[in-house]
Amino acid sequence: MKNIISTEQFKKAEVEKILARASIMEASCKSDKIEQILKDKIVACIFFEPSTRTRLSFETAALKLGAKVISVENAETTSSAYKGESIEDTTRMLCCYADIIVMRHPKEGTSDAATRVASKPVINAGDGANKHPTQAFLDLYTIQKEHGRLDNLSIAFVGDILNSRTLRSLVPLLMLYPNNKFYFISPKELVLSADYRKYLTKNNVNFVETTNLDEVLSKVDVLYMTRVQKERFSNVADYDRVKDSFLLKMEDVRKLKKDAIIMHPLPRVNEIEVEIDKDPRAAYFRQAQNGLYMRMALLLFVLDL
Ligand code: NCD
Repeated sequence: MKNIISTEQFKKAEVEKILARASIMEASCKSDKIEQILKDKIVACIFFEPSTRTRLSFETAALKLGAKVISVENAETTSSAYKGESIEDTTRMLCCYADIIVMRHPKEGTSDAATRVASKPVINAGDGANKHPTQAFLDLYTIQKEHGRLDNLSIAFVGDILNSRTLRSLVPLLMLYPNNKFYFISPKELVLSADYRKYLTKNNVNFVETTNLDEVLSKVDVLYMTRVQKERFSNVADYDRVKDSFLLKMEDVRKLKKDAIIMHPLPRVNEIEVEIDKDPRAAYFRQAQNGLYMRMALLLFVLDL
């Protein structure tokens, strides 16, 4: 049985198959000829943290493929977790009803814990500041579509380098391809965690850490903006100090290469000026759209279909 917990679990051949499947899903959506492969299946989405894109694109993906959906949002107050039920018991229950469990939780390792008792595939839709593998897959698909390649790229991550689970999940996928270089741009309070830096060094990843966005702009193929993750701060003063560290302006975009792309997992708060949206290099809404096709592919992947 397949789970999707972390992108580090994937070999390159498997990643390539998933990318190709997402492309088939995109074509089938666009031609309005979607095979109802998940007819008679039920997908459960249980979210203990807020979400717009992840939950709704998973649900749309399931519906498009003919599945039915059961869904709990605000699960911390509306499911039996509120009464003190353990994640293991909640998972056991979901497995009585559904064929796939899509789970988001503020605590690191929760979906991994769920897999230990689950009799159905579990998909990690974000566990704290740790991992968000399905976002990474849609990010990878977006880069491939926009640039036509996944190697020989310079990718800059900007903002909350410490707490971005999308970064922690996308980097391992890009590490599967040769000659990629990473820039991590953040205020000094939000630099890479020591353990992640060690992981990158151990794997001979080519990366630079800096606080200066301006000097990097003209060098990158992908500018990946991130939101400062307010929910990971233990006090408001610390958050307030760094929350507006990097706001991308039109004058910055002018310094980018002509074929660079600007990505953001969204939601955007104060990282990208709205007037940038009309620049063709602004890829973040296309990126969110790609989430639908990729999540269709990932639902099929976990069921070996
Ligand atoms: C991201 C997340 O939840 O980690 N959002 C998403 O899934 N598209 C990024 C964020 O919340 O900042």
